[in-house]
Amino acid sequence: MNTNSAVRRISRRDFLRSSAALGAVAWGMPTIVPSSVFGQNAPSKRINLAIIGAGNQSTVDLPEWLKNDDCQILTICDVNRGSRGYRDDKQFLGREPQRDFVNAFYAKKTGKDSFKGCDACIDFRDVLARKDVDAVAIITPDHWHAVQTIMAAEAGKDIYCQKPLGLTVRDGQEMIKAVRKHKRVLQCGSQWRSTKHVREACELVRNGRLGKLQKIESFVAVNNFAGPGPGWKPEPVPEGFDYNFWLGPAPQAPYHNLRCFYKFRFIRDYSGGQTTNFGHHANGVVRWAIGDDLFPTEFEDAGSEFPEPGDLFTTPTKVSFRARFPGGVELFCHTDKRSFGVRFEGTEGWLELGSKKFETGPATIKSSAIGGKDQRLYVSENHYRNFLDCVKTRQDGVEPVETGHRTSMLCHLGNIAMLLKRKLKFDPLSEKILGDDEAAAMLARPMRAPWSYTTT
Ligand SMILES: NC(=O)c1ccc[n+]([C@@H]2O[C@H](COP(=O)([O-])OP(=O)(O)OC[C@H]3O[C@@H](n4cnc5c(N)ncnc54)[C@H](O)[C@@H]3O)[C@@H](O)[C@H]2O)c1
Repeated sequence: MNTNSAVRRISRRDFLRSSAALGAVAWGMPTIVPSSVFGQNAPSKRINLAIIGAGNQSTVDLPEWLKNDDCQILTICDVNRGSRGYRDDKQFLGREPQRDFVNAFYAKKTGKDSFKGCDACIDFRDVLARKDVDAVAIITPDHWHAVQTIMAAEAGKDIYCQKPLGLTVRDGQEMIKAVRKHKRVLQCGSQWRSTKHVREACELVRNGRLGKLQKIESFVAVNNFAGPGPGWKPEPVPEGFDYNFWLGPAPQAPYHNLRCFYKFRFIRDYSGGQTTNFGHHANGVVRWAIGDDLFPTEFEDAGSEFPEPGDLFTTPTKVSFRARFPGGVELFCHTDKRSFGVRFEGTEGWLELGSKKFETGPATIKSSAIGGKDQRLYVSENHYRNFLDCVKTRQDGVEPVETGHRTSMLCHLGNIAMLLKRKLKFDPLSEKILGDDEAAAMLARPMRAPWSYTTT
C-alpha cells in the first residue's frame, strides 16, 4: 500500500469523524458538485461513495443512497456498459445507464441539465485507487463479494456489501479478518434488521412472549427463472460486456445470458440459490429473534429438489432443510409461496412475520409491551443511513461483518446438507463440519487466478 495515499485517506476519514463530532469545518471542495445539492452538508461532512455493480439491486440501492444529503455518489463501476437481459425486459442496466441515472438526479436537484458529477468505470481496482472515495457499495454477484471486500478493506474503504457475505464459509471468515485488520466499517446489506416491525417481532420472541420455543420455519421464494435444461448451447458474448471480468474468481465457462445478469443466483459457481438469497434475509431474522450467539449444530436435508444433471442451473428448485439448535429447537427452511417470512411457535403462542407486518396468536402477544428488564435490540430505521452514520462514528452498524457471515454460514451449511442428502454435525465455535471430510471440503472453493484472498 502506498504510505502517502494511506496517510491522505486516513486524514480525510479522521476529518469526517471529527467534523461529525465538532460540526462544520472548512475543507477544500473535492469535486465539481455544487454545495447547493447537499444543503447544509459541506464537503467536509460528505461521504464519497462508489457503487460496484450496477444491476438489478442497484435500482433499489441507488435511490436509497441518493436520499442522503451527506453522501455523494462519485462513480459507478460495472463490467457491463449497459444492456437488457436482467431480471425483466424493462430493465436497462450497467455502468452507463446507472451513471446517467445518478447524474439526472443531481441535475434535477441543482437545476443544471449539464450536470456530470458522477462518472463510470469498468475496473473496481480503479475505484479503490481513488483517494476521494471513502466507501464502496458492493452490489455484484456473490462470487465477487469476498475478493472485492478484502481489497476494499486493504485500500482503506468502508464497505456496504450486499448479502450473502460470500460464496462459501471461508469467504466470510476471510472477509472478517480483512475488515477487522484494516479497521473498516462493514454493513451487510440484508435490510430487515433496519425494519421496525421485524425488530418489534424479534423483541417479542427474544423476551419469551411465545413461551419456550418449539419450532421455527423460514420461507424462501420459489425460483423465478428456470434453466435452459441439458444440452444448452453457448451464446455469443454481448458487445460492451467484459465476460471474463464478470467470471473473475469463478471457473472459466462458456457464456449464456442465463448464466449472468440476475440469473447467476441459480448457479452454484456464483451463488447459493434462494437458500442464500431469500434465505439470508429470513434466517437472519431467525438469528436476531433467538439470539445471534446461538447457532445450529446439526443440518439435514428435508426433501430438497435440484435441476436435472446437465442443466446450466444447479441450485435447488425446492429448498428444504432442517437445522437443529443446541437445546433441540428446530429450524425448517423451505421454499414457500410466502416468499419471505418466518414463523415461530412456542408453548404460549405463535408469531408469523412477512415483509410488511407480523401477526401473533393469541393476538394479545402482539400488543404486549416491551420494557423494564426486557432485552432491547439495536435500533436502526434505515440500513443505508445506519451505515453512513457508522462511517462517521466508526461504530459497528446493525449488521456488522460477523453477523452477516454467521447468517450466510447457516445458509451455506443448509446448501451442503441438501446437496449431500445426509446429516451434518457442525461445531459453531471452530466453524468446522465434524466427521465428514467431503462435506468439510465444501466449506471453501478454489479461486481462478489471478484472484485470491491475499492482496498484499
Ligand atoms: N438486499 C436485497 O434485498 C437484495 C436483493 C437483490 C439482490 N441482492 C444482492 O445484490 C447482489 C447483486 O444482485 P443483482 O440482482 O443486482 O445482480 P445483477 O446481475 O442484476 O447485477 C450485478 C451487476 O454486477 C456486475 N458485475 C459483475 N462482476 C463485476 C465486477 N467484477 N465489477 C463490477 N461489476 C460487476 C454485473 O455486470 C451486473 O451488472 C447479489 O449479491 C444479491 O444477493 C440483495
